[in-house]
Amino acid sequence: MFKRILVPVDGSKPSNSGLRAATRLAREQGARLRLVHLAQQVPVKAPKSTDLTVGELYERIEAAGERLLERHARYCRTLGLKPETALYVGLGGRASEMIVDEAAKWRADLIVMGTHGRRGLGRLALGSNAEQVVRHSTVPVLLVRLAHRS
Ligand SMILES: Nc1ncnc2c1ncn2[C@@H]1O[C@H](COP(=O)(O)OP(=O)(O)OP(=O)(O)O)[C@@H](O)[C@H]1O
Ligand SMILES: [Mg+2]
Repeated sequence: MFKRILVPVDGSKPSNSGLRAATRLAREQGARLRLVHLAQQVPVKAPKSTDLTVGELYERIEAAGERLLERHARYCRTLGLKPETALYVGLGGRASEMIVDEAAKWRADLIVMGTHGRRGLGRLALGSNAEQVVRHSTVPVLLVRLAHRS
């Protein structure tokens, strides 16, 4: 029933739980998987970011995003899946907008994502991106809570 599954990833544990669930579904359904990431964070190992030009900063954020997506894609390939990946870079942008737009453009029939992400504010039921995607997406959304065991 699901043939095109969009999986937004941010490298956090809840996001990894979402990806795990998505890979299970994709194998069961014989669905295509597309991993998307909005790169916004300067990698921790970067030297003082104040010493970088805007161009250098952008390149580092982009390179970190590519590494993150490649790591996730490799995980999917170990399960016999051949995911597509899409990377966006945008310091000020909202991941939720990217996700909703991407789902429409790629004609996803399901979005699978974590309920929280890197910031993981436990006192809120959902992260802001999860909430905005649920509010605005025109395709079904499967939210996956952080799995303590798997
Ligand atoms: N930059 C991103 N690129 C791709 N997917 C993302 C990104 N940020 C979040 N997501 C997806 O959204 C899910 C929920 O993350 P969300 O950002 O809503 O939670 P949070 O980080 O705890 O909250 P907030 O960002 O509001 O502080 C993640 O598990 C991931 O699937
Ligand atoms: Mg977040």
